[in-house]
Amino acid sequence: MSRKKIVAGNWKMNKTIAEGLDLVAQIKTGLHEKNYQTEVIIAAPYLHLGVLTAQYPGDADFAFAAQNCHQENAGAYTGEVSASMLVAAGVSFVILGHSERRQYFGEDETLLAQKIKTALANGLKVIYCVGEPLEVREANTQNDWVKNQLKALDDLSAADMKNIIVAYEPIWAIGTGKTASSDQAQEMHVFIRRTISEMKGEAIASDLSILYGGSCNAQNAAELFARPDVDGGLIGGASLKAADFLTIIESRG
Ligand code: PGA
Repeated sequence: MSRKKIVAGNWKMNKTIAEGLDLVAQIKTGLHEKNYQTEVIIAAPYLHLGVLTAQYPGDADFAFAAQNCHQENAGAYTGEVSASMLVAAGVSFVILGHSERRQYFGEDETLLAQKIKTALANGLKVIYCVGEPLEVREANTQNDWVKNQLKALDDLSAADMKNIIVAYEPIWAIGTGKTASSDQAQEMHVFIRRTISEMKGEAIASDLSILYGGSCNAQNAAELFARPDVDGGLIGGASLKAADFLTIIESRG
């Protein structure tokens, strides 16, 4: 992937299958009335994904993402879902390292590095999330924090990096209605690009798509996306309403 405009909706643990089908149908209709080049990704709960990919196989308007996957290919891991199952179900992307997975399910860089490798080896593209909690932002040490999280990408080859998208999601902005200012987002995206450049070289860094997430909505998306290093958004709450999600996609252009 070279650098792209991307808007991804993360439904988290919301919507029944019927509600999800209805939402995607509304998004599909709405997209045909909009003028945009943005790549649209919908991250639905596991249960919904097979139904959605069957309804919209190889769809030209959007691709589907899982919100997690296991680090092993198969085995005795009750309750888990593997990357190969997702690929076989027609899923193209997986979100890894979301702060809710880190916070509530104890996922750290070591585990996430394994998950990323397994996902890529199975042919999934990865949206890797990074972002600092409030106390880190208040201590002004967010760059060190995010740099450490980017270490999960250390072992990846240049070919692997083509299938990585990074999402910067400051935890203090997620679901709080408190968005990072466009200056704060731009500054951190530049820092992420510079760090990836140090790790992997300039060409890979300039090709990397970096999304902003954290209370990005129909009102503030245009200002965030106007910044040169904000390539798109990872949208939680506002992706649950077709009209808002469509406005955000249109704002990305
Ligand atoms: P939010 O969530 O847009 O509801 O803040 C973003 C995310 O967690 O991906």
